[in-house]
This record gives sequence, C-alpha cells and structure tokens, in this order.
Amino acid sequence: MIRLFVALDFPEDVRQRLTGLGGGVPGARWTEAENLHLTLRFIGEVPEDQAAEIDNSLSQISAPAFDVTLDGVGVFGSGRNARVLWAGVERSDALSHLQSKVESALVRCGLPVEERRFSPHITLARLKDAPKDRIGRFIEERGLFRAGPIRMGHFTLYRSHLGKGAAVYEALREYPLARG
Ligand code: 2AM
Repeated sequence: MIRLFVALDFPEDVRQRLTGLGGGVPGARWTEAENLHLTLRFIGEVPEDQAAEIDNSLSQISAPAFDVTLDGVGVFGSGRNARVLWAGVERSDALSHLQSKVESALVRCGLPVEERRFSPHITLARLKDAPKDRIGRFIEERGLFRAGPIRMGHFTLYRSHLGKGAAVYEALREYPLARG
C-alpha cells in the first residue's frame, strides 16, 4: 500500500517567505520548507496497482496554468483544539476548476467522493497545546501576509512516508498545466 495525495507546490522564494512566518508559538511544529504545499486532494493508502491507475487518470487531465495568490494566515480548531496554523489561499475559479478535475479523475479510479469541502490552505505548523494568546498574536502579526500572483504550471502526485518524525513527501509525478 502507498499513501498518496495530490498537491500544488511552490517556488523556493515563496517557500522561504512562508518559513519566514514561523516562530513565536510554543507547541508548534513548523513545516520544513521542502514540505510546504497546497493539497488538492488527500487520497490515503491505496494498493500499488490502483496507484498506477490514479497516475494514468491524473495524466489525462487537461487544464490551464493559472496564478495563485496567498493571503493571510489562520488556525484550524480553536482553544485547546487548535491543530494547524495555515497560510490562506485566495479562492479562484481556476483553482476550483483544477480541484474538481482532480476529484473526478480520482472518482473514476474508484476512490470514494471527498465529502469534505475543499478548503485551500498551506499548513505552516501543527500545534500541540499551544497557548491561545500566542496563536492570537501570531495571526494578528502575520495577518497582512500576501504572496503572489504565483504561476502554477503543474500539479503533483505525492507519496507520503510516515515515520517517527515529520512525514516525508516524495514527488512521484508532475502533470503539466497548459500554457495560456
Ligand atoms: P493538512 O496539511 O491540512 O493536514 C499530506 O498529508 C497532505 O494531505 C497534507 O497537506 C494534509 O493536509 C492533507 N490531508 C487532507 N486530509 C488528510 C487526512 N485525512 N490525513 C492526512 N492528511 C490529509
């Protein structure tokens, strides 16, 4: 079985800016620069032959390249249940379009329909017992963060290797988006 997800990745300068946002929150485990991404669809564990089918189906997606703009920061969960600090992503028709094409390609491979609403974000840190006031201050101080527009010329199928520490993400395949 292999653990897969589909995501957009970002150029080095943007990842540096994102890691530069980190710090100042006790109990936060910050995402390494090379692991920063925007998940389009989490797939989870699948048998290897289904992975080949998924790759084939994703490679047939035809969608235009588009720009992504990052906007602000926020938190998933609240109080004691605050779990994730994230950088926000401006909604755009092109992003939703690609996300729904990925979703249909995966459903065609026999994966169950994703019930959760698409909530585009980049995970900056995972939280454990982080003090509420420090989370609040982080969001207040980084609230004006903006990056972009950033050209997305491809999307990527990743394999996630779970270990003792942070997961290691391996890019298995990049699928080009058409130049406009
Ligand atoms: P997250 O960063 O918001 O946790 C690889 O794990 C990627 O898939 C992460 O970006 C993660 O989002 C996303 N993902 C979505 N649903 C997931 C799930 N049920 N389990 C693990 N990762 C998930």
